[in-house]
Amino acid sequence: MRIEKDFLIIGSGVAGLTFALKVADFGSVAIITKDELEESATKYAQGGIASVMTDDDSCDLHATDTLEAGRGICKEDVVRIICREGPTRVRELINLGAQFTRTAEKDYHLSREGGHSKHRILHANDLTGWEIERTLIEAVKSKKNIEIFPYHMVIDLISRARLDTSVSLCGSEDELVGMYVLDANKNQVCTFVGKSVILASGGAGKVYLYTSNPDTATGDGIAIAYRAGAKIANMEFFQFHPTCLYHPKAKSFLISETLRGEGGILRLKDGETFMEKYHTLGCLAPRDVVARAIDFEMKKSGDDCVYLDATHIEGYRCRERFPNIYQACLNFGFDMTKEPVPVVPAAHYMCGGLVVDVNGQTNIRRFFSSGEVCYSGLHGANRLASNSLLEGLVLSHRAAAKAIECVKDSFPSELARSIPEWDSGSAVDSDESVVVSHNWDEIRRLMWNYVGIVRSNKRLHRAQRRIRLLLDEIKEYYWNFTITKDTLELRNIAITAELIIKGALERKESRGLHFNLDYPDVDDENWARDTVFQGKPQPLITKTREKTISND
Ligand code: SIN
Repeated sequence: MRIEKDFLIIGSGVAGLTFALKVADFGSVAIITKDELEESATKYAQGGIASVMTDDDSCDLHATDTLEAGRGICKEDVVRIICREGPTRVRELINLGAQFTRTAEKDYHLSREGGHSKHRILHANDLTGWEIERTLIEAVKSKKNIEIFPYHMVIDLISRARLDTSVSLCGSEDELVGMYVLDANKNQVCTFVGKSVILASGGAGKVYLYTSNPDTATGDGIAIAYRAGAKIANMEFFQFHPTCLYHPKAKSFLISETLRGEGGILRLKDGETFMEKYHTLGCLAPRDVVARAIDFEMKKSGDDCVYLDATHIEGYRCRERFPNIYQACLNFGFDMTKEPVPVVPAAHYMCGGLVVDVNGQTNIRRFFSSGEVCYSGLHGANRLASNSLLEGLVLSHRAAAKAIECVKDSFPSELARSIPEWDSGSAVDSDESVVVSHNWDEIRRLMWNYVGIVRSNKRLHRAQRRIRLLLDEIKEYYWNFTITKDTLELRNIAITAELIIKGALERKESRGLHFNLDYPDVDDENWARDTVFQGKPQPLITKTREKTISND
């Protein structure tokens, strides 16, 4: 099956849906998303969206806080643009119908999170992401020329360089014309052709054993972009959220940082506080500091967790402000108004990603990106809490303006017509799916143990050796057996893991989220810069799937 549209959007969180709304009046749109439409990391965002909303705050202050958290490698122009344009984009969202929590005086209730010098986190109690997702979905569904393809997973992007290997193209000389997509319900591969593509597929928390991310966060965007020859930067900066509920059945349920913003205190098992030893901001220190402090205290004491104490916050305030968290904790047997809840850090946000400029343009023509999957330079070495929803809104708005221009350019129709139909060749259905589940577990465990909050050269080299073996095995499996969503996710998560390890090995210093015991200090002279890896566009081989293919 072949589907032709002006705009192809991969992902249905804040970045993808915002882009869809902005381009919908300028051409036909497809939203391709591998689960149901609403299933994205956006939906699970609790804390909120950072935006300057009051006169005692300013975009300059917001930018200063963001630059401070980013530890010297944010792109300052990008930071300033996003902080400045953010409030306008947030008001657009409000005008679309997003309901954020207000005070008794009808002003917006603004929370505070780690690293912010002001109360500037707009929220819908503790279900902010869901409110944003709900608002955007309602608007998207009202647009006739947006077609939604749920349960569709991108296999690979199709570019000029991949179709015609007789010429050697790289980066800006190359251009995207489409993609192969697995319709997971029908088990069939479709060819999508588009005049512009935006990748907004979210993050990769599932690369780690413990994560606050939904199951969909398997690094697909990073892997497909890398295979198409895109530039990927700063993958070593993976943010660990300090406070996820510690319970065998809780799947690292997030306890929002805004709980600490409202006065929640971190304690050890014996009730002692500890954050004052690590940072003057105590429990509201930047996330990297809090996560490392907890990791250190847990290793020192041998305890499985630390505790987050909200018992001194009045019961009704706690229940009203955090109804979702309160209920979830109660379901696991903890009444947070009466007892401290056990918490541990878990992988939360990918601060590196697909390199884009301030208009979401990647190094390949007709190819844009926005949201967690991209690296615009906003987050640098550590993301300031609640800046990511804002980035998605601003970058998608700016990328849409460029993509609208791009679809007016002449499109290489001849080239697009030459895209072959997908052919599974001699691949057969797998009779050993255990390979997928085993490798999946092994990757997540090795990343947690060797490439986690505290790293060392020895652990990183160990991880690199293992991931190379796993990649070989996964490659063989991929070519021999019929494609499934699980196989695609496994291939993507393995490539993403390798890029995180490569970034961590390359950066010979400790900065922000990357802490290596062998280089405990910041090295501004050599490392106040990004680590960048560029994929090599690989020939597009849909058929034969021969074992001799070595460059996948
Ligand atoms: C939180 O609510 O703590 C998460 C917010 C964020 O990661 O930006």
